[in-house]
Amino acid sequence: MRKKFFIYGFLLFLIVFAIYLKTDRGFLLVIIIPILLVIGIYNALQEKHAILRNFPVLGYFRYLFEMIAPEIQQYFIERSTDGRPFSRNQRSLVYQRAKNIDSSTPFGTQQNLNHDSYEGIKHSIFPAKVNEELPRVLVGGKDCKQPYLASLFNVSAMSFGSLSENAVRAINIGAKKGNFYQNTGEGGLTEFHLAGGGDITWQIGTGYFGCRDAEGNFSPEKFSEKANLPNVKMIEIKLSQGAKPGHGGVLPAAKNTEQIAKIRGVEPHTMILSPPGHHAFADIKGLIHFIAQLRQLSNGKPIGFKLCIGNTAEFEAICHEMIAEDIYPDFITIDGAEGGTGAAPLEFADGVGMPFEPALIFVNKTLVGLNIRDKIRIIGSGKIISGYSILHAIALGADMCNSARGFMFSLGCIQALRCHNNECPTGVATQNKMLMKGLVVTDKSDRVYHFHKNTLHSANELLAAAGKNSFADVDINIFMRGDEFGHLSDSYFPDILTNVTKK
Ligand SMILES: Cc1cc2nc3c(=O)[nH]c(=O)nc-3n(C[C@H](O)[C@H](O)[C@H](O)COP(=O)(O)O)c2cc1C
Repeated sequence: MRKKFFIYGFLLFLIVFAIYLKTDRGFLLVIIIPILLVIGIYNALQEKHAILRNFPVLGYFRYLFEMIAPEIQQYFIERSTDGRPFSRNQRSLVYQRAKNIDSSTPFGTQQNLNHDSYEGIKHSIFPAKVNEELPRVLVGGKDCKQPYLASLFNVSAMSFGSLSENAVRAINIGAKKGNFYQNTGEGGLTEFHLAGGGDITWQIGTGYFGCRDAEGNFSPEKFSEKANLPNVKMIEIKLSQGAKPGHGGVLPAAKNTEQIAKIRGVEPHTMILSPPGHHAFADIKGLIHFIAQLRQLSNGKPIGFKLCIGNTAEFEAICHEMIAEDIYPDFITIDGAEGGTGAAPLEFADGVGMPFEPALIFVNKTLVGLNIRDKIRIIGSGKIISGYSILHAIALGADMCNSARGFMFSLGCIQALRCHNNECPTGVATQNKMLMKGLVVTDKSDRVYHFHKNTLHSANELLAAAGKNSFADVDINIFMRGDEFGHLSDSYFPDILTNVTKK
């Protein structure tokens, strides 16, 4: 291929040059072809990229197409019900609710309902009255001195660093307007989280950003300073997150700007990998005592921890230790393995941890079985972006729900899958100041507010359709599954008919 490139390239140049000398036309080509030849010679001689070595100029098209593959997929190939992690229909729903415009769907469902995996609500012929008030849940157990009346639906952990400054500010203003909380993520509590006056759940990860000493260890003094700020309503210890359980946080070098490095107390422009485990405690007893320590340092604010379930015996052991020590977290956040992230190793995203539904069922059952369910609120996160998914999570055992990517969509995220390389085209998940300018804080904070309000209203409507007055009355029995119909239909066909069709 290389040989052909040079032979045809030189021939083409000679022909174009001859035409130019004779007719005075083709000056541009006389300039461009030698440039391409020089690039071609360089590529043919370099030893890093096999494609460019073999196809010295055409090879660039591969890189170009690879770069715009997500856009081609999304704009030209994807159907409304396709698209991962979120389908076009799901994304559109969030956009419409965020813009506060009609989100109804025409003509009927596009889903195949006659399938084992179908799940639907068993509506009642006596629907309840739709509650116009948005549901709230009180968080705070027996040792909590400052219980928090939280919205049932809140913004899941996303750090400043993975999100842009404008995104963090827009969420915070939206949270203030809608009276719900924003979880800071493990990147620390920053001025942008405090600027809008919205409620905050401050997350403490293994990097202890914002509450670490010079050696990177947990600093009780620094923690206490921030934990006692009035905006901070709850504190969450991050044990793991669904997209990369067992792996620490990842801040790619491209997003580790001077500003972020200063906030986190790290070297700028380097990849920051938080350790997979905590230094502040080394075992289950240590975790329980850490909860008590944070509660004391924060003067009794609700303290909880977040994890993706892996080894179930470990979770059971934590619960037994809570009972033995008589120390309980005020809440536990369960993140499904299908959860999102700014950046994660593919193996961890695809192959570690328990998905949301079984994890939630397991945690709820374990707490009920040990008779401690009433002491702890369960918060669920994992692709919760609609009224239906909220009700579903509540039915499986959650008291409250968090959403990360739902709120990203409300900010204008188009699922470009560029959170990790600082090139997010909508300014949501980038530190590039130019791109960030695209995200206008005042406009997007309104969208955050509307998305929250309209989604919870939809959950209220579904609750009423199921004939229930309160989310506390919801359990798994309000849902039906496709495989139930499978068994039903079996019983409608007598054996004799089955035999006939077999022949
Ligand atoms: C951009 C981004 C950054 C995130 N950062 C954090 C984080 O700092 N700490 C954490 O516990 N989870 C983090 N998560 C996970 C979310 O909080 C959430 O648990 C997960 O995405 C599931 O919710 P979702 O399906 O609504 O996105 C992040 C997710 C995204 C998309």
